[in-house]
Amino acid sequence: MDKLIVNGTANLKGSINIYGAKNAALPIMACSLLSDQNLKLNNLPNVEDINSMKKLLYNFGSNIITKKRSIIIKNNRVKNKLADYDLVRKMRASILVLGPLLSRFKEAKISMPGGCSIGTRPIDLHLFALSKLGAKFKYKDGYVIGKVNGTLNGASIVFPRKSVGATENSIMAAVLAKGNTEIINAAKEPEVFDLCNCLNSMGATITGHGTSKIKIKGVEKLYSSNHNIISDRIVAGTFIIAAILLNKTFIIRNFNTQNLDSLFNVLEKMGAQMKIKSNSVKIFPSRPLKGITLTTKPYPGFPTDLQAQIMTLMSVANGKSQIKENIFENRFMHVPELNRLGADIKIKNDVAYINGNRQFKGAQVMASDLRASVSLVLAGLSAYGKTTINRVYHLDRGYEKIEKTLGKCGPKIKRLT
Ligand code: EPZ
Repeated sequence: MDKLIVNGTANLKGSINIYGAKNAALPIMACSLLSDQNLKLNNLPNVEDINSMKKLLYNFGSNIITKKRSIIIKNNRVKNKLADYDLVRKMRASILVLGPLLSRFKEAKISMPGGCSIGTRPIDLHLFALSKLGAKFKYKDGYVIGKVNGTLNGASIVFPRKSVGATENSIMAAVLAKGNTEIINAAKEPEVFDLCNCLNSMGATITGHGTSKIKIKGVEKLYSSNHNIISDRIVAGTFIIAAILLNKTFIIRNFNTQNLDSLFNVLEKMGAQMKIKSNSVKIFPSRPLKGITLTTKPYPGFPTDLQAQIMTLMSVANGKSQIKENIFENRFMHVPELNRLGADIKIKNDVAYINGNRQFKGAQVMASDLRASVSLVLAGLSAYGKTTINRVYHLDRGYEKIEKTLGKCGPKIKRLT
């Protein structure tokens, strides 16, 4: 298993370009199953989760041509509709093929995704919504087996709680259903918005995306398209936090800054100095920072995927901070590791209490999930001495080789294979 050696305290200069959003690309790659024509996708990130989704699609019989950050997917010879345990356990987002398979092929057999280190990750909301559209489910040997008699039929789906994945699965099932569907209490994340834009470019008729009420008129068929994946707001937010943590002048380019309003509001309250343009942000030395209290929420609230990273920044701010994690039940796995690096964080139920004014010192730490691992990289960059981060396969799922992308802006990060 690879490990990273991060040399602190790191320098950081110049600028960095942000690439495509993994969490937009994954549902959009899954939606290629809805059509038998070419779907060309551009601006893809070179991260492990994209490779996992390619493997899953190959397993169904997809034809995929990869050219740098673009792929062309063709699903005119889909034979198998089974997503086996080995493929699904590596990436929970595999569940996103359920809606498309049921919608176009009327059947699917998917291994139950199982939990991960941030929570049990149930799929009840996915199954609730797909059942509303007419799918029938049974469970056998850890698999969920879905069937559709005839076609799916448009329905009104009222989600009791917001879910990004369940919203995406419902949209992908409804686009080929007979009649109209409305989704109430839909997720409003930019990645859901991007999926709907891509589906509309393939011939779907979706309106209201980006709001909590989405309407879909079922169509007979979807066609080919050429879609540019939106840039990754979470990767952008991670590098913005890194620049403020290291107290450097640095530019983060090529992403829609409107998608990070909640982060900018928090950073401005902490005293960060930033010049925000529509497609880039310039960070200026901002110390001293002030502590702050925040709660993670569904979009447009503060994203849970930036919770670990802002916690690292709070550790060096003046005074106390608090984070209430409202989305996942166990998303504080980075806390004991940050404490090993010199942070002073206590957890009580779903709230983390962070004492500031800390100086990180290098140590051996263990990554536990994607965003926890990058919070350890940030702490290592700001620490005195060397930090060794084990199990970096977690990091590689959502960040392109960080020793190269960040490395070319100054930090000395070495990968040991
Ligand atoms: C998506 O996961 C993202 N993954 C996650 O990013 C992100 O943290 C999450 O949305 C929240 O923004 C992808 O897009 C591939 P949810 P998803 O359904 O769809 C509960 C990362 O780091 N829930 O909005 O799985 C669930 O347990 C990853 O890139 C149910 O109870 O998130 C959680 O507590 C991590 N039943 C809450 O809802 C369900 O059927 C929100 O989950 C589904 C979810």
